[in-house]
Amino acid sequence: MTVPLPLPDLQRPEGPRGHPLLGHLPQLRQDALGFLRHSRAAYGDVFPIRFGRQEVLVVADPAAAREVLVTKAASFRKGRGIQKMEPFLGTGLLAAEGEVWRGHRRLMQPSFHRSALEGMAGDIVASAEPMLRELARAAQSGAEVDVGSEMLRVALRAVATVLFGTALRDEDLAVVERELPPLLTSTANRIRSLVDWDLPTPARQREKASQQALDQLIHRIIRERRTAGAGGHDLLGMLIAARDEEGRGGLSDAELRDEAMTLFLAGHETTATLLTFLFLELSRHPEVRTRAAAEVQEMLEDRAPTAADMRRLPFLNACIQEALRLYPPAWLLPRQATQPVTVRGVPLAAGQGASVNVFLLHRNARFWPRPDAFLPERWLTGERVPDAFMPFGAGARMCIGNHLAIMEATLISALVLRGFTLDVPGGGPTGLVAGVTLKPGAPVWARVSPTA
Ligand code: HEM
Repeated sequence: MTVPLPLPDLQRPEGPRGHPLLGHLPQLRQDALGFLRHSRAAYGDVFPIRFGRQEVLVVADPAAAREVLVTKAASFRKGRGIQKMEPFLGTGLLAAEGEVWRGHRRLMQPSFHRSALEGMAGDIVASAEPMLRELARAAQSGAEVDVGSEMLRVALRAVATVLFGTALRDEDLAVVERELPPLLTSTANRIRSLVDWDLPTPARQREKASQQALDQLIHRIIRERRTAGAGGHDLLGMLIAARDEEGRGGLSDAELRDEAMTLFLAGHETTATLLTFLFLELSRHPEVRTRAAAEVQEMLEDRAPTAADMRRLPFLNACIQEALRLYPPAWLLPRQATQPVTVRGVPLAAGQGASVNVFLLHRNARFWPRPDAFLPERWLTGERVPDAFMPFGAGARMCIGNHLAIMEATLISALVLRGFTLDVPGGGPTGLVAGVTLKPGAPVWARVSPTA
């Protein structure tokens, strides 16, 4: 185990020099990860950068991350980017603050508890069927598959089924598959933009049309479920029935819509990129893949995986953890100070930003020997420094869907590994794109063959 060096309390940490007006935006736009890694090497694990004139403290040290997300969380709110998503996400958990957030989180938490989710394993396995059929077709025809697209489709189906259960018809899924991706792209563009113009551009109109189509669908399903009066075992049923400890509740239709939209948004691209990176690394390390596939084969033979199998697949689980370490889909956790506060002794004024950089944290050589190498074995032995690994965040705002995400990733990857070998010719793209989520720098195409 690597012992963390005590970080001296800093008063004014130095950071890279930036443009007087644009700050470090040019460098961030050109190659955010390269710039941030280079700056960390030069200035240490806590250093300031600027988005335009807005100063942001980059945090890549576990103790500093803990201060921002846990011990001093009351002095922060979510960063400006997430605030720009409010029109789309409303009072949904990801964007809400204060009492509204607290009330919803309390109400929703039990539905995301491991034991509540276990009954949904069958739905997740069923959502993987079209993807498995596609892999079988590709194996037969010799065509390559775009792993990222396949994983996006399966993750979207999984979250939609877990959310709405049998209320979701095939034509509804087609609407979600068509309308959600453009909405995500335009939301990501809005977050990146320095100005907030709501001009009636074709892109903006397309975004509004997508949002309306999804709103209509979600409202229809909520109406049907309320009329039927049944709770149901899917998340929507649980949320309709949810009451807090004093028996107060539940969520209004508008609140249910916001939560459903939030779960779609937060719950599909993240899981899909995790799976894409996992298969990319397994293709680069055939000996690791063989070991993971053998573990799955031995455990499952011909039956469908269940939630109970997750505990029986320690090596596959280690591969998933290692993919999350190297490629944390939520690579940046931005916050804004709401009052004067210090982080590792660095004073922040109200309004100033602090951004926990999960990517830099997970590749910090002080805590992770050979930080850039894919080494699942490291999860089977040894102790780890608390807070040096936080793919799901930390503190009260930690991901509510973490168990669901791990369950989806385990079941889906087990199903693929049992039936198929995905080989990415040439090792696939080495670059990364660090947008709202972290993605491979180019599509990951794979040749598919049936597992021997
Ligand atoms: C590999 C997959 C996933 C990763 C890496 C991930 C990561 C994260 C992280 C880091 C946060 C905290 C953000 C912050 O502190 O600023 C978060 C929040 C959240 N995630 Fe996830 N997530 C994943 C999957 C899911 C799934 C499957 C769902 C639900 C279907 C989900 C729903 C949410 C929600 C609702 C929040 C906001 C929680 C709150 O503020 O109370 N996530 N996620």
